[in-house]
Amino acid sequence: MPNEPREQWASRLGFVLAAAGSAVGLGNIWRFPYVVGEHGGAAFLFLYLIAIVLIGYPVMITEISMGRSTQKNPVGAFKALAPNTPWWLVGGLGVLTGFVILSFYSVIAGWSMSYIFKAIAGFPEGAGANEQLFGQHIAGVAEPLIYHFIFMVITVGVIAAGVVKGIQRIVELLMPILVVLLLIVVFRGVTLEGAGEGLAFLFSPDFSAVQPETILSAIGQSFFTLSLGMGAIITYGSYLSSKDEVPNSAIQIIGADTGIAILAGLAIFPAMFALGFETTQGPGLVFITLPAVFAEMPMGELFGFLFFLLLSIAALTSAISLLEVVAAYVIDEKNWPRKKAAAVVGAIIFVVGIPPALHAGVLSDVTIIGMDMLDFYDFISDSIMLPLGGVLTVIFAGHVWGMKNVADEANKGSRGLKIGHWMEPLLKYVIPLGVLIVMIVGIIDTLG
Ligand code: PHE
Ligand code: NA
Repeated sequence: MPNEPREQWASRLGFVLAAAGSAVGLGNIWRFPYVVGEHGGAAFLFLYLIAIVLIGYPVMITEISMGRSTQKNPVGAFKALAPNTPWWLVGGLGVLTGFVILSFYSVIAGWSMSYIFKAIAGFPEGAGANEQLFGQHIAGVAEPLIYHFIFMVITVGVIAAGVVKGIQRIVELLMPILVVLLLIVVFRGVTLEGAGEGLAFLFSPDFSAVQPETILSAIGQSFFTLSLGMGAIITYGSYLSSKDEVPNSAIQIIGADTGIAILAGLAIFPAMFALGFETTQGPGLVFITLPAVFAEMPMGELFGFLFFLLLSIAALTSAISLLEVVAAYVIDEKNWPRKKAAAVVGAIIFVVGIPPALHAGVLSDVTIIGMDMLDFYDFISDSIMLPLGGVLTVIFAGHVWGMKNVADEANKGSRGLKIGHWMEPLLKYVIPLGVLIVMIVGIIDTLG
């Protein structure tokens, strides 16, 4: 039985906004500050920016082009471009990565949702009290699970409603509000007494502390934050029409994502130093530092409420792109109706997310390779699955699909910026070798 005709974005702006909605999320506001903090600040930021330009931009062009030229989900895209070869497995790895990422992403989004209500009640003042509040929250059983569940139900609802109606509308409305709110928080942070040290931490690099593991984290963060390496952008590109511009769209998406990450850094580090927090708090960082800032602000309840509301929504626009990868796969390849696909896949992802949801509570003693269940899910997806998926995708594009096809597709419809053959050595050799070497050395460094 044939499915409904494939949807397309209602405009190019629709694609850019949806892809930016996928990109901008917990990766920018929750993950970026804490990995910057863990890896010593500005030196990490510098490596991350290099990775965005040298790896992120070419990989994004490649993924959009693969999606648009085939109009398929990641598995279907590889099958269409290289029929009867095992390359579709790279798309399969992407689908699997989507499962793993969304399962813990939903847990963190659930923390953010519960913080909407905590903000209304008012955050306590000071570092210690906020540390305690957060510690109690994540050590629970019912609360983390219930919010993880609610978040997955909402995500499933949007995906069941379809691409344009579900995804495009929410994003168009909310992205601008998020930027304004971040600017307000940045203003409060940088005007606190002692904020200057935080700015120095973020912008004056000390390369002496850079380890192989630091570089791997910077690369992993660049894939994660741009939604690359697992087919989300292939999938979104598949709803893009050939009249639209690829190279420009990629720049806009990356610009928005990088801008918001830096704003998040500016919202957090100056305040962190001013209020006397440690930079190495890990995944709790935004949930501890910012509430302490809100507690010291006039109308802090209102700003805190808005902030965690928007963070939850930013998480939602990313989560739907993760679920869409898996859903598009079963819709296209297994002919499932969209609603059934969303519901069944969502239910499985909820279950897979139970261990990270309980990582600080009943499962706090459970570790794998020395990591708790949240760190473990995060590590295998960001430091292994995404970089591997990205490397295999560019090897495929450079050596199998071919640079001419990549460039023809990427430049089709483009009136302004076009990509040239400078991308060929990057796709064929520089990115694959660079990332693989960093991965191997970095993984050994992490485990050792
Ligand atoms: N880019 C999203 C973020 O930064 C996370 C994400 C990763 C979304 C991979 C889709 C695919 O929050
Ligand atoms: Na991001």
